Amino acid sequence: MSIKHFDTLQVHAGRDISASNSPCVTPICQTSSFLFDSTEHAASLFALSHPGHIYTRLSNPTTDVLERRVAALEGAAAAVAVSSGQASQFLAIQNIASAGDNIVSATSLYGGTHNQFKISFKRLGIEFKFAPNDNIAEFESKIDNKTKAIFIETIGNSDFYIPEFEAFAELSKKYDIPLIVDNTFGAAGYLFRPIDYGAAVITHAATKWIGGHGTSIGGIVVDCGNFNWANGKFPQFTQPSESYHGLSFWESFGEGSQLGNIAFAVKARAEGLRDWGCSLSPFNSFLLQQGCETLSLRMDKIVGNALELAQWLESHPMVESVNYPGLKDNRNHQRAKKYLKNGFGGVLTFTLKASATSADGRPSGKTPDFVHALELISHLVNVGDNKTLISHSASTTHAQLSQKELKRAGIGENTLRVSLGIENIGDIKADIEQALRRV
Ligand SMILES: Cc1ncc(COP(=O)(O)O)c(C=O)c1O
Repeated sequence: MSIKHFDTLQVHAGRDISASNSPCVTPICQTSSFLFDSTEHAASLFALSHPGHIYTRLSNPTTDVLERRVAALEGAAAAVAVSSGQASQFLAIQNIASAGDNIVSATSLYGGTHNQFKISFKRLGIEFKFAPNDNIAEFESKIDNKTKAIFIETIGNSDFYIPEFEAFAELSKKYDIPLIVDNTFGAAGYLFRPIDYGAAVITHAATKWIGGHGTSIGGIVVDCGNFNWANGKFPQFTQPSESYHGLSFWESFGEGSQLGNIAFAVKARAEGLRDWGCSLSPFNSFLLQQGCETLSLRMDKIVGNALELAQWLESHPMVESVNYPGLKDNRNHQRAKKYLKNGFGGVLTFTLKASATSADGRPSGKTPDFVHALELISHLVNVGDNKTLISHSASTTHAQLSQKELKRAGIGENTLRVSLGIENIGDIKADIEQALRRV
């Protein structure tokens, strides 16, 4: 039977219950390696001519279910799970770019991603050229014959910029380069499905809403199966691989192959996971899968809480400003209505009136006092938990950014980021109210 609906797929996709007396929950296959039937069998697994598991750095049955599930939720061809969201970007980029190449990326990004792109990839010889999301012409002006991809986030963390997806898809098509979308804030397709708007590759911090319980760091790279890696710009897919005994990933796993176009995912696993080793542990795969089963239910509650809190904060006399795409006068509201299917996201930012800034540019006065006075809301850096979380972006997640970059990313010195949980909104508001009264 073909399952079509998100809320059914999030529970069932990827599960194999064909064996007699199958367990109802995916078992944790806590093993480093897998027994071979014979030397021929071992050789066929290593040659990728026979499906199966060799070593958990490459693949694992528990992780396999998570990968198939997220691929199904995103409507994609295949997925590769990795040890973190940061690793998902790394694995995706290294799969298509080498020293001397470049990627054109939006400025509206999670701070850790921005630093990975700007500093760490530069050390490896891969340059990231940044352009503001709302300026397609600037994106286009930065593309040259060494550009290997365009990178954007679905809802930028933390200015919540929502790109004009059609324009980015058109640009990537015009230059025949893949559009990579970090869909962490799109909740694995529940709020937004990048494949419907021309994405070729999707990355995820599964740490966030996919897991949802704040237990595990993890990431997923999704291969949409719709890009022609044999277009002449990506010889690493078509030429015999030096690192994989002469295999052509495109010939064996590209369009027209028995398994469909999964060359990107196979290469990311066979070369990327093998050589960089950023694999997800089976236990984390298990926990992320448990979270995934309730993704749509949690998101419904979270986006409802976020909208209600944003509206309440907006009318609060002690609040200076609120940024949430669900608010009618928000600069992202029209695009949010157009692209986001089931709510406007789980995170908002706000600033308090008359918050002071100290000589070193860090906040003083009301903002830190307010954060310390909260009793229910957790002060930590994460998003996408069942618990409501708060953090001060400029001194934590985005601390590596310059003043100019912070401004471009929509983060002020007193910006507080709130990731809504699934608690009762009355209790969340009451906690904020009591903390405001104390400052
Ligand atoms: C949009 C986005 N992408 C990637 C990451 C990195 O994920 P991880 O912390 O799992 O490495 C984060 C982390 O906050 C994020 O918000």
